[in-house]
Order: sequence, then structure tokens, then C-alpha cells
Amino acid sequence: MSGDRELDVVVFGATGFAGRLVAGYLAGHAPGGVRIGLAGRSGRRLADVRAGLGAAASDWPLLVADSADLVSLAALARAARVVVSTVGPYRARGLALVEACAGAGTDYADLTGEVLFIRDSIDRCHDVAAAAGARIVHCCGFDSVPSDLGVLGLHEAARADGAGDLLDTTLVVTAVRGGVSGGTLASMMGQQADVRASAQLREIAADPYALSPDRVAEPDLGDEHDPGWARFDGGLGMWTGPFVMAGINTRVVRRSNALQGWAYGRQFRYREVTGFGAGPAAPLLAGAASTALKAVEAGLAFGPSRAMLARLLPSPGQGPGERTRRTGYFRIQIHARTSAGARYLGAVEAQGDPGYAASSVMLGETALCLALDRDQLPGRAGVLTPATAMGAALAARLRSAGHILTARQVTQLPRTRPRPGWPASCCTLCPARPQRLRARLRARDSINCRLAGSGSESGARSKSPRVRRDFRPRIACRG
Ligand SMILES: NC(=O)c1ccc[n+]([C@@H]2O[C@H](COP(=O)([O-])OP(=O)(O)OC[C@H]3O[C@@H](n4cnc5c(N)ncnc54)[C@H](OP(=O)(O)O)[C@@H]3O)[C@@H](O)[C@H]2O)c1
Repeated sequence: MSGDRELDVVVFGATGFAGRLVAGYLAGHAPGGVRIGLAGRSGRRLADVRAGLGAAASDWPLLVADSADLVSLAALARAARVVVSTVGPYRARGLALVEACAGAGTDYADLTGEVLFIRDSIDRCHDVAAAAGARIVHCCGFDSVPSDLGVLGLHEAARADGAGDLLDTTLVVTAVRGGVSGGTLASMMGQQADVRASAQLREIAADPYALSPDRVAEPDLGDEHDPGWARFDGGLGMWTGPFVMAGINTRVVRRSNALQGWAYGRQFRYREVTGFGAGPAAPLLAGAASTALKAVEAGLAFGPSRAMLARLLPSPGQGPGERTRRTGYFRIQIHARTSAGARYLGAVEAQGDPGYAASSVMLGETALCLALDRDQLPGRAGVLTPATAMGAALAARLRSAGHILTARQVTQLPRTRPRPGWPASCCTLCPARPQRLRARLRARDSINCRLAGSGSESGARSKSPRVRRDFRPRIACRG
């Protein structure tokens, strides 16, 4: 450990709901010898939090700082090698600390999901942080670590196989269970209020490349707005609806691509959806979930309904209880097609409420990664993303902590160029394996075989689950 700072890691916001969980994770998992401090605006409440963390934290220093007091923030940034902040809403309370860390050459990480805050941070702090050698890493929780590391893993697997660039890449949330805290709701409402008040901010929030380091250099790939409603996705073979975090995650993943010199590809088209399967109830579930999401957004946007919801929903400082945090989970698949015609499938999964139990693991491991794994990190500084700041080092830590992150090829590379009008990936199936073929048709992986059957080829792609079920394929493999 470098001796130029009093501490290795400080948790700012340790008295809040997420901050207490992150502090608890570090108390239970940081290796001995790592010097950790707790920061917040009340010394008395910090002492109460520390007392609840057990013997491992009994001698952790307490630092009093307020996000409105620049002197206290400068002292905080100088005290530690890594500051992690759970003080939100971040656009209202976060920028001064980022500026202090950038100027002091101190690594910084947080749990924000606020696009407008990150845009401000990039504009104000990227160059200063890059010059001072500081890694400023936003979005180190459920948004956007699974998306960012999941896509990085697919890119690395495709590159290792010589399978070309990533093209259409879709993250599908296949299962998720968890709660929400008052701080998260306050942050969502804060961003909504900002967007309502300013046409310029509305435009930034709606821009798929809102976090780009070089907006004019981004490729024009047509409409890349986040899907808003339920629809049957023929490529995935399932009903999909919007994913509530797509608005932040997709921007972070696109920034990761740009910060790596568009290493994923210049034709990288990325989107995130919630998957509802292809069963008879799927269209209803997808429609109901999409409508409910729109209703909550609308409810939070208007004064009277917002006031009513505020009485029903958790207040700042409150969040999901111990049982909800323990029994929660998330399961994510990422489907990608590459320029060489291969298909890849990534999986990111963890047990525990995504926003709180799993996010405290993600932010806690981020803090340890920035503090302890410096020699394994990419040689970058500035306002970065989880993938570009830590990449494989963070993925390895999360795997050790029990999270699943995998990426594998699910088709072979094509042996010949696909015939015009045929799907671009190779058939790894054979006519002797009708079961696998049918499973794959259901999953809508393209195959390079002539399809024929009791229906037409379009039967296999029908939006109707019944028509697809009844389609009996025979194939004539061209391979
Ligand atoms: N990305 C994710 O997956 C994820 C998951 C969870 C949370 N989050 C985000 O994390 C943030 C915190 O959420 P939360 O539920 O923990 O909120 P919270 O319980 O309301 O905690 C907010 C914290 O900020 C502190 N604070 C408020 N004003 C301050 C000021 N002027 N100076 C210093 N500290 C101040 C509070 O201190 P006091 O105790 O003194 O009031 C408290 O410690 C939110 O923005 C939320 O969206 C993101």
C-alpha cells in the first residue's frame, strides 16, 4: 500500500441505506491490513454504523464531510486512495466530490444511474482526472456492472476466437427479484424533474450516445432508442418488454466501446430488454410489465400522483428488508452476433437483491479492486466505466465473490459465405438432431440450413407461438 494517504478506502454516505450495506460488505470481506474509513455528515451516526459492523471495523476512522462543504470534500479526497460514494441523488450532491477526487488524483467509484450527472462529470472532470491519474468510475452497482462486464466478456471471447467485431448485441433480463430504496426513488425523481425542466437536458437524456467521449465520431446506426413497449422479438424467439435500467446501461456500454477506440466494433448495436419467454402467457406478461413501468414513470412525473406514491414508497434511508435482500436475484443473458457470422451467449447472474445485496458486493469489490489490483488494471485515467477502468480484474473478483459471468460461442464460424437471403451464421446442427434443431429454432438462433417443413420457413419465424410450435422443420444442411 502506498504510504502517501492515510487510508486505502473511504465509504462516503456510510449512514445511508446502500452505504451501510457497502460498509458491511467491506467489514466482512476486505483482507486484513486494508485501511478503511467511514465518512458522512454526522459523526454520531457514523459511530452508530461502525458499532454495528463488528470487531473488524472497530478501529475504522470516521471522517465528517458534507457535500455542500468543499473544504471537507477536499480533505476527504486527500485522505484516501479510493473514495466510494453512496451520497445521492448524485446530480444534486455528487459533482463537488468528483471534482475533488479528480484534482487530488484519488480514485473514485459510485452507484449512480443518473445519465445527466455522469455527463456533467465527464465534461467537468475527465481531463483533470486523466492528467492527475485518477480513475473516476460511475455506475458500479447493478447499473451498470453486469451490462458493462458482460459485453466486455463477449468482446474478449470473440476476439480470442478471431470471430470479428460485435454486431447486434442484446441483453435480456430473464429473471429478476428485489426491492427499491428511498434514495433510488429520490434519484429517479430528481432526474425526471431535471429533464422536465429543460429541453436541452431532455435531449441529452434521450441520446443513445449521451456519454460518448466524442459524440460526432459515433457511428450512425439508425434508430438506437431503447425499446419502450412489449413486442415479439423474432431474433430472440421470445416476447420482450423494456428494461428499466436500459437508459443508463446502454450509454455506459457504448461509452466503454468508444473509450477502447470502438474495439467492440463500429457497427456495434446494443440494446437491453426484459425477456418473457414464448409461452402462452408471455404476451400478457410483457404487455402488463410494460404498461406498469409506463404507469410508474407517469405517476412519478406528476405532482399529485408523485405525492401519493411518496407516501407508499420507501423514504430516503429506507430500503428492502433483510429477507428481500437475501432471497432476491438476477439472471441476465447477452446475445451477440459477430462480423464473422458467429453467435455468442453471455450470462451474468447473482444471488441477492440486485440493487442492494448484489450491488454492495459490486461496489465493495470495486473499491478493493481499485485499491489493491492497480498493477492489473488497464492503463487509463479519467472518467471511465467499470469495464474500461477495471475490466477483467473486477470480473475475477466478482466471480470469487460468487457472481456468475460467462461468455461462449454458441455457433461455429461459417465455412463458406452465406447464400443471399439465408441467415449469416453457420449450422452446427445436423438433420439427425431434430430435437436440437427445434430447440434452437425456438431460441431463434439463425441456422445456415434450408428450412422446409409442414409450414413454410416463415412458420418458424411466426409471431404466433402456436404456429411456431406446429412448424415441423426438415432441414437440408448446405455445410
Ligand atoms: N446503481 C445501483 O444499483 C444502486 C443501488 C442502490 C442505490 N443506488 C443509488 O445510491 C444512492 C443512495 O441510495 P440510498 O438508498 O443509500 O440513499 P439514502 O439511504 O437516502 O442515503 C443517502 C446518503 O447520502 C447522505 N447525504 C445526504 N445529503 C448529504 C450531504 N449534504 N452531505 C453528505 N452526505 C449526505 C445521507 O446522509 P444522512 O444519513 O446524514 O442523511 C445518506 O448517508 C442513490 O442515488 C441511489 O440511486 C444505486
